[in-house]
This record gives sequence, C-alpha cells and structure tokens, in this order.
Amino acid sequence: MATAAVTRPECRTSPTAYEALKKHFEEHPEERPDHPHKWDVSRSDIYADNTWHPIFREMREAGPLHYIPESPFGPYWAVVGHKAIQHIEALPEVFSSSWEHGGITILNRLTEEELAESNVGDRRELPMFIAMDRPQHTGQRRTVAPKFTPSGMAEMEGEIRARTGELLDSLPRGEVFDWVDKVSIELTTGMLAILFGFPWEDRRLLTFWSDWSGDTELATVRSLDEMRWGFLHEMAAYFQSLWIERTHDKEPGDDLISMMIHSDAMNQMRPEEFMGNLVLLIVGGNDTTRNSMSGIIYQLDKNPDQRKLFEQQPDLIPNAVQEILRMQTPLAHMRRTCTEDTEVFGQQIKAGDKVVLWYLSANRDEQVFENPDKLDITRENARRHIAFGYGIHRCVGARLAELQLRVLLEELHKRRMRVHVAGDIERVRANFVHGFRKLEVEITEF
Ligand code: HEM
Repeated sequence: MATAAVTRPECRTSPTAYEALKKHFEEHPEERPDHPHKWDVSRSDIYADNTWHPIFREMREAGPLHYIPESPFGPYWAVVGHKAIQHIEALPEVFSSSWEHGGITILNRLTEEELAESNVGDRRELPMFIAMDRPQHTGQRRTVAPKFTPSGMAEMEGEIRARTGELLDSLPRGEVFDWVDKVSIELTTGMLAILFGFPWEDRRLLTFWSDWSGDTELATVRSLDEMRWGFLHEMAAYFQSLWIERTHDKEPGDDLISMMIHSDAMNQMRPEEFMGNLVLLIVGGNDTTRNSMSGIIYQLDKNPDQRKLFEQQPDLIPNAVQEILRMQTPLAHMRRTCTEDTEVFGQQIKAGDKVVLWYLSANRDEQVFENPDKLDITRENARRHIAFGYGIHRCVGARLAELQLRVLLEELHKRRMRVHVAGDIERVRANFVHGFRKLEVEITEF
C-alpha cells in the first residue's frame, strides 16, 4: 500500500501526555486537584500509589452506590457493587452514554462558554458509538462488529502468534528491561497496525495519540487540554488521509478501515462519525490491552503459587486470562448520565445526575468473588468479571483482547519463560486508565 499521500503529523518530538502533566503540576502545585470527600475515588493518587483497595472495600460494605457531593469533576454517584453496575448498564435508556448528556467518563463535556473560550474550534467531541444511545449506537456498532467474530479472530491468530513469538525471542536475557515499553506497547500497537493496515513504521504514533486522549486529569488543565485536543485532531487528520487512500483502492483490503468504507451502514455515516469511530477503536484497544499485558506479569510475579500452577498446567491459560482481566481491570470506570428520576437499590437518582460505574470495585465485590483480592487462575466464576463492561456497550474488541492475552501466555509457556519483576514499578496516575507506566523485569526459565 502506498503511504506517500499521508501527511505525517509533527508530534513525535512532543512530550508525552504524562511528561507534560507531571511538569505542569511541578510548576503549578496549586493547580493539583483537591479532593475533600473521603470517598471521592476520582482522585488519581490512589491509583498511582495502589491504595484504592480499602477505600472501595469500605464503600462496598456501606452499600452498592453512594452520592459524592464534591469533587474536582463535580458531584457524582459512585456505583461500586457488581450487581448495581449490571442493573444500570441493562437500562441504557435511563442511563445514557451520549455526549449530549455528558459522555462516558467522569469528566464533563465542556460547556458552551468553555468551548467559546477555548482555541480549538467549536467541534470538540468526535462522534463515536461508545458515546451514543440507541438507535444510532446499534447501526454504527454493526459496521465494525463483523471484524471481531470468532472467524475474524481465527484469521488474525496466526499473525498475532508469529509477531508475539518473534518479539519474545528478541528479548534480552540476564538483563533488566521495561516490560511496558518493550512488550506491552510493542505488541498492542503492532496488533492495531495489523487491524487497521496502519503504516508499520509509524505504529508508535498510535501509542502517543492514545496516551494524550485517554487521560482525564489532563483535561483538568486548560493549557494541556488544548494540546490534547490538538493531538486528537492530528490523529483524525492522519486517519483521514488513510481513508482517502483506501477509498481509491480498486480491490478492498481486509483491514478494518477498508471494511468500514465498504460496509452498507457507511452510507449513513457522516465523515466525522467515521473518523470518530476509528479514533474510538485505536483508543479503546490501546491502553486497555497494553495494561492487561503488564498486569499478567505483575500478577503472576506477586502470586508465585499461581505462576507455578500456570507453568505446570497450561490448560488453565484461558481461565487465567479472565482472572487477570478481573484483577487488573484496565478501565477503572465508565460513566452514564441519568435521563429520568429513578430509584436504584434504594437510592433516588435524579435526571441529569452523573453516575460513575467503578468496574475496579465491582471486580473485587465480595458478594460475587470469594477472596476477591487473591489471584486464583482456577476460579470458577472468573468470567463474571465486568472489565469489558456489560449490556449493549460491552466491549466490541473483547475477543481480540482475549486472543492476544491467551497467545502471549501460550508463547511464554512454550518458551518456558519466567518473567520476574526486578526493578521499578510505576503506575498510571489517572482515574480512568488503570495500569502501568513502567514495569522493570528480568527473564529466567522454568
Ligand atoms: C467498549 C474495556 C479492548 C474497542 C469497552 C468498554 C469497556 C472496555 C469497559 C465500555 C463498556 C460499557 O460502556 O459498558 C476493554 C478492555 C480491553 C479492551 C478491558 C482489553 C483488555 C478493546 C479492543 C478494542 C476495543 C482490543 C478494539 C480494537 C472497544 C469499542 C468499544 C469498547 C469500539 C465501544 C463498544 C460500544 O459502545 O458498543 N471496552 N476494551 N476494546 N471497546 Fe474495549
């Protein structure tokens, strides 16, 4: 495929979102968000320091949902029980995902006044089906869902396995290295590049863009938020050029972009909706899968008994994938907005209220998972985790994510590789993406 027509964005020399945010708060400590309420779990320090467990436990003991009247993101309902989250996600008409009502993260959509003051134009949110309600959601999801069927996955498995094996064989031995950078990011961006037919040499841009778009804390700092939107627009511009190229291809390829262009539903989609959905797939499939791959190593290292079991019984791998997803929960929350006054588990929720679904807590719910803080790769109900959400918005890429994680574990096993945490662990400072910025490891054999 020719890539000459693609206008390359000049963002490779720019700081990463994390670096920019860190520097900003060092220079302006007074702007760090203040969290006055003891149960305000929007505070990102509890995820960076890994101290969220007792807070959510205390909240679950007190009930499945709680009103948090004050936070840097405004008042919100914190839903912390497994059953309550499923209940809410099963009522998408009452609990909307739409941008018009406020969107899908704890962060509010900008008001008209804020938009007018900003310098990034007046069209800030790209329309994407994760932030739509029925019936629009149904039609747009259908344009991409066929790529993720079991037969679609079977077609991708060979290439994913080959790339995973190649990468594992190239890793240093007897030396400490960062698993996040060398493995999790590399495998995730490689897989997305395959999925989209994205120019291979530019695949790290996918990481860079996703990094800038997924951080809710970034959006609390106006100057950085403007950069964030700048990068999102660059990503859209890049994909637009790929789209134009593929539109002119005589033979439609089997990548996701070509598939979307040539699908019937595409005729009903506006160009910005097409772009928004591409961005959604990139962002949706990026940090999430990356952090599960790091979670695998972290969890097995922390639980030597389970690592031994994995090494002795590779048939447990599919269940281990589910259990690791439960323990890691790569997206800590999703958000809904209530559209009519209603009652949920004895609490009165008003139309317009922000409702934040904490998957991280639900996946540790004692009422569903026995001894929930323990990794148990033989756990019978590990599949009941809701790391992929629940209901009509349940992750469309779940099978692909599961496939990649299973293949990674199988290829590690095949090579008898044991990966030890052997240095720094740095976690993401955010309340949405839950994972690792750095995980230093060393490889031995079993
Ligand atoms: C939706 C998690 C991988 C694409 C979601 C949701 C969650 C989630 C929690 C929202 C569900 C809701 O609102 O109820 C994850 C996790 C992943 C992962 C934990 C990896 C371990 C992927 C991959 C892709 C992807 C690999 C695609 C390449 C999407 C899309 C949606 C979505 C397009 C929107 C679905 C809809 O609104 O109908 N994901 N995801 N995800 N995910 Fe994933």
